[in-house]
Parts: sequence; structure tokens; C-alpha cells
Amino acid sequence: MATTIKTPEEIEKMRTAGQLAAEVLRMVGAQVQAGVTTGELDELCHDYIVNQQKAIPAPLNYRGFPKSICTSLNQVVCHGIPGDKVLKDGDIINIDVTVIKDGYHGDTSKMYYVGAPSVRGRRVTEVSLEAMRRGIAIVKPGVRLGDVGHTIQSWVESQSCSVVREYCGHGIGRRFHEDPQVLHYGRAGTGTEIQAGMTFTIEPMVNAGKPQTRLLSDGWTVVTRDRSLSAQWEHTILVTDDGHEVLTQLPGDEL
Ligand code: MF3
Ligand code: CO
Ligand code: CO
Repeated sequence: MATTIKTPEEIEKMRTAGQLAAEVLRMVGAQVQAGVTTGELDELCHDYIVNQQKAIPAPLNYRGFPKSICTSLNQVVCHGIPGDKVLKDGDIINIDVTVIKDGYHGDTSKMYYVGAPSVRGRRVTEVSLEAMRRGIAIVKPGVRLGDVGHTIQSWVESQSCSVVREYCGHGIGRRFHEDPQVLHYGRAGTGTEIQAGMTFTIEPMVNAGKPQTRLLSDGWTVVTRDRSLSAQWEHTILVTDDGHEVLTQLPGDEL
């Protein structure tokens, strides 16, 4: 499927979906603490999305995914399935929320510390946040997706961390995952040229150790092969005529 350029009407719907996804994260973030299970966080999000927002949690039943959010703890890279895992002091956790409102998707994730993080936990979390920020910062018409990947990879590797290769950002709109693929590594000056009206995610997965991953037997949970910590942040971005708008950033919040 080719990359779509969104119309002004579609962009307004993407804005709404993006803001709703961000509001779910703000709600659930306040509940992340030792003793809570990832399944309880999922239930809170599910009820909030369905009952308050009158929206749809996109992950639920997506290609058979069984829950409404992804919760990826410590060495889990992405697609962790909420369940009876109890959060404990020192854990780092990514919560990834995607909502569908009026037919359009908003996709965003953040890292949370449970109590005080370890030195390594804080470091991989901060490196991945800065990686996402640097990638977003250069988005404007005429820049190539390889420039985004190169910017992210250069930063992450300069910090002695690594970029996961098997999963990437993606176009987003009526469908959860559209073209183009937004790789978080690459060569400057290569790849698709960014155009105004594109909407895509930037969501670098950064490992404290080596980049390789392994898929667990549940068919979803992706972990670091070397069991090092992994962290990820994600925003949905609209390309504007002179730059970009972060659709999943709430007013007054920093990136
Ligand atoms: N939210 C993830 C992303 O950023 C995709 C999760 S797919 C699921 O693309 F099925 F695991 F929910
Ligand atoms: Co995404
Ligand atoms: Co996501």
C-alpha cells in the first residue's frame, strides 16, 4: 500500500485520535507504582478508552493480540502482553497506547519508572527519549527517511547503546500500520522523501546491550537476546509545510 497524504479533514481526525491516545497515557501513568499488575493497567486503559473516550483500543484483537495496550517491562523490547506480572521498585516499563476514533489511529508510548530506577535503567530510558526527540526534530518536507534513521542511530550508538532493527515506525491513519516504514537506523540522504500531509510514527527501541531480539513462545513478547534492558518512546507525527506537528503531544507537555 502506497503512502497516503492526508486531507485537512483527515488531519483533524488524526489530531483528535492523537490527543486521545496521549490522554490515556497521562491517565495510566499516574497509576504506575510497585504492586500494580500490568493487567490492571490494561483494564484501566480499556475502560477509559471505551467508556470515557468512546473510542476503540486498536491493539485488542489486532492480528490476535489479546489485550488493549502493550506493557513492555525491563528486557522486553516491545509488544509485551499485560497480565499478572506485578510491578516492583526499580523496574522500567513502556506503555504503548493506540486508539481509533472516528476511523483514525493515534499511537504513542512512554517509559515509566517504578520507584527509583537503576543507573542502567535510567540511562537506556534517557537515551531512547533523546533518540526519538532528535528524529522528530529534523522532520520536514524534503528530508529523507534515511536522514531520520541516521540521526537516531548515530545518537544511540554514540551513547554505547544499540538500535533494534526488526521493528520500526510506520505510516498511520485509517490503518494502524501503513507505509512508509520508518527505520530507526540508516544512511543520510537515502529513502523516501518526506512530504507535507504524511502522518507516521517515530518509535525507536533502544537496547542497553546488543541489538538482537528474540520472540517469546506467546508469539508477541519481544525480548533482548542478551537480556539487557530496552526502552522505547513513540509519537505520531504530522508533516506540515514547514516542519511537523506532534499529534500525540498534549498542550503544555514536553516532548
Ligand atoms: N503500538 C504498536 C506500535 O507502535 C503496535 C502494537 S501491535 C499489538 O506500532 F498488536 F501488539 F498491539
Ligand atoms: Co507505532
Ligand atoms: Co505504539
